[in-house]
Amino acid sequence: MAGLRRLDDGLWVVDHRDFSVGGLRLGTRSTLVRRPVGSLVLVSPGPLAETDLAEIRGLGEVSDVVVPNQLHNLFCVAAAAAFPEAKVYAVPTIRAKQPRLRIDEELGATVPGGLADTFEMLPLEGARRVDERLLFHASTRTLVGVDVAFNIRNATGLLRFAMWLNDGNDKLCMTRLGKSQYLDDHRAAARSVDRACDAFDFDRLVVSHGEVYEGGAREALREAYAFGRG
Ligand SMILES: [Fe+2]
Repeated sequence: MAGLRRLDDGLWVVDHRDFSVGGLRLGTRSTLVRRPVGSLVLVSPGPLAETDLAEIRGLGEVSDVVVPNQLHNLFCVAAAAAFPEAKVYAVPTIRAKQPRLRIDEELGATVPGGLADTFEMLPLEGARRVDERLLFHASTRTLVGVDVAFNIRNATGLLRFAMWLNDGNDKLCMTRLGKSQYLDDHRAAARSVDRACDAFDFDRLVVSHGEVYEGGAREALREAYAFGRG
């Protein structure tokens, strides 16, 4: 059982390490941030167990659920149902993927007013299939970027082999498959990553697949998108 893991003041994650995609145990991650007013924002909810939900409720009221990436849509309906009082923000493309999700406000190009006390936001461009918004939490110098990069470390067995094929072992990177399947315009993606790195002074990057990148994440993310500047 994973449970909440505290990363910083007002910042927690739940590592869903058993989550598999296409038979690969890639894992996924939910992020929880405390707003200045004291309530909590749940970002990109994964398969939260009842025990996880109980832990989250133990920290306080979840006032907002944010779905910032359309590929990570499998668990948002359950999360919205678990927190019926929460306001739900989602990227527009979620509507087609999860028509049952109640969406109170779509995420556009700039951060919604209701989240502006907690996050700054920029879209990941050149990535229509992902439709991701990058969320910066200034007080912990953390960028939440669900699929902006992978950070798979010390993988074994089939996952290690798959990530070897994908040029994605033991580094922060966009994998070979990610470059071809997630990104439709490498230059636009790199430009938007550069824009986020210029605008947001982050040191930690919370990705969904692999480890949280701690220390020097801004430089590492810039480097991970060097392929888009050639
Ligand atoms: Fe993903």
